[in-house]
Amino acid sequence: MIKEIWNTLTPGGKRSLSISVIAFTLYALSGIAMMYIVLKALESVVTGNGNLLLYWICLVVCLLIKGCSNILADVRKHYAGFDIVYQVRKNIIYRLKEFSLGFYTNERLGEISTIIHKDVDKMEMVVGHMWTRMLADFIVSIILFTVLVIYSPKMALLMASSLPLAILFLVLGLKRARYLENEAGNDLADMVSVFVEYIKGIPLLKAYSESHQFERRVERSASVFGQSCKAVSRNRAAVLSFYGFILDVSFWIMVTVGLVMMMKGELSAYSFLLFAIISREFYKPFLNLESHWANYLTVTDSYRRIKKITEAETVPNPKRALQAKEYSISFDDVSFSYEEGGFSIEDISFHTPERTLTALVGGSGSGKTTVTNLLLRFWDVNSGSIKIGNVDIRDMSYDDLLSSVSIVMQNVQLFADTIGGNIRLGKANATKEEVITAAKRARIHDFVMSLPDGYQTMIGENGVGLSGCQKQRLSIARAFLKDAPILLLDEITSNVDPVNEALIQQAISDLAKDRTVLVIAHHLSTIRSADQILVFQEGRIVQSGKHESLIMDKKGYYYNLWNFSDQRADNL
Ligand SMILES: Nc1ncnc2c1ncn2[C@@H]1O[C@H](COP(=O)(O)OP(=O)(O)O)[C@@H](O)[C@H]1O
Ligand SMILES: [Mg+2]
Repeated sequence: MIKEIWNTLTPGGKRSLSISVIAFTLYALSGIAMMYIVLKALESVVTGNGNLLLYWICLVVCLLIKGCSNILADVRKHYAGFDIVYQVRKNIIYRLKEFSLGFYTNERLGEISTIIHKDVDKMEMVVGHMWTRMLADFIVSIILFTVLVIYSPKMALLMASSLPLAILFLVLGLKRARYLENEAGNDLADMVSVFVEYIKGIPLLKAYSESHQFERRVERSASVFGQSCKAVSRNRAAVLSFYGFILDVSFWIMVTVGLVMMMKGELSAYSFLLFAIISREFYKPFLNLESHWANYLTVTDSYRRIKKITEAETVPNPKRALQAKEYSISFDDVSFSYEEGGFSIEDISFHTPERTLTALVGGSGSGKTTVTNLLLRFWDVNSGSIKIGNVDIRDMSYDDLLSSVSIVMQNVQLFADTIGGNIRLGKANATKEEVITAAKRARIHDFVMSLPDGYQTMIGENGVGLSGCQKQRLSIARAFLKDAPILLLDEITSNVDPVNEALIQQAISDLAKDRTVLVIAHHLSTIRSADQILVFQEGRIVQSGKHESLIMDKKGYYYNLWNFSDQRADNL
């Protein structure tokens, strides 16, 4: 996992991380060197030989190194932190667009937003800020140990004597801590579910107020959770205190033996002091071992969640992409369901010749939008096939497929950008003239020009608000600009007043010209002249044909729909 995290960094990020670690090491070493110099100076004062000025100069040099390395380490750790955050977010951003819409359940959306702000930030915090210091501390420990072993092997080994035992104890203690934390987690889940049940049942409990059985159950679950939390804290406190104590025992043994050696004349007072002071630096990373471990777990946890996005399956692209030569649409025996046992469409078959208009009608929830979702590969079919110009859409490159289709939907999504920017979504590199032409054809140009900033007007939270019809016409302008051969229109005039409806109708008739169009319409009057009408009921096509022939069948579903729709239109 650490290797994967390391590989996420760019070369610049890796460099920053390494520089930061080296600089932190230098920072710590120069601090220790200063203590060493002070001891040396003390010795020279006591013994009366040695050059105090030289020590003073060395002290100043160390001070400078310490200051500079601190700045360098601090700046570089931020660079490394930002690098990892940026890389991870970038990977996620590009990935998100490649998933089928089936990926985006509500649960997933919550998860994704947590990952993007919490987990990624944690990576920055731990990898950039904590790991750099931790690595430096361990490097310092190793260097100190090596130097001290050379200086006095006996004292150095005594200094580290209880370290293996302490670490073994900590590992065992942490294992138990994990077990207890799991238990506490289970108790928390139990408590929450009992609470939820309690809150839902409050009206009933009020009605039967003499029974306090449930309250006692809730109380009991709260108390059980409290107990397990206490056990976790107790274990943690005991493990950490005892671990620290074992490390202190090392220090105590070293000091005791050192005193004896000093009395026997085997060790100078100055060397004794050196060990007594510098050993604290040696112990430092080990004293923080538990929090280092906790950080490691946090990061690997976050990284695992991030990988759930970056390594999730995307819409499969064909090895050798085929291109459609014309733009008819065929559905052959298509069956599909969003989830097992849920709504499904069964054996849908129809053919739409190029440059014709096919209308999809039927009650709400009968599967019309689902058909357009499948055509765009927002989801893939369970069986059967969908073809554009006789090429299975799964054999086309996904980009190619999406660029052949324009969509205008009931709910228009606008981004917090200028009006021009929002229209350009249809064609990123469109010229100003192209944007204006598209807006004119979408009957929105005059409105845009009436705004003080014209096409530069910002929309969204901090900009002007647009009415539903204006948004609708903006999205029609996008479609004009995109100029794709296939056009999907999904209930665009459902919530529009009659005046605007006429305006939108004109724009749409213009847009639909010379394209293969699938239109889903609520007001049946608008699709009377369609080349083909497909009547949907509960995920199946129950009738199809032209309006005149469908309306003849007085027992047919279309006839009912038509009458119902007309009555609705009269009531408007
Ligand atoms: N993402 C989804 N996941 C699960 N079920 C869905 C999803 N989208 C739509 N449905 C269900 O599929 C059925 C058909 O929906 P839809 O195709 O939108 O109908 P229509 O456009 O004809 O009103 C509905 O019952 C709806 O609840
Ligand atoms: Mg729909």
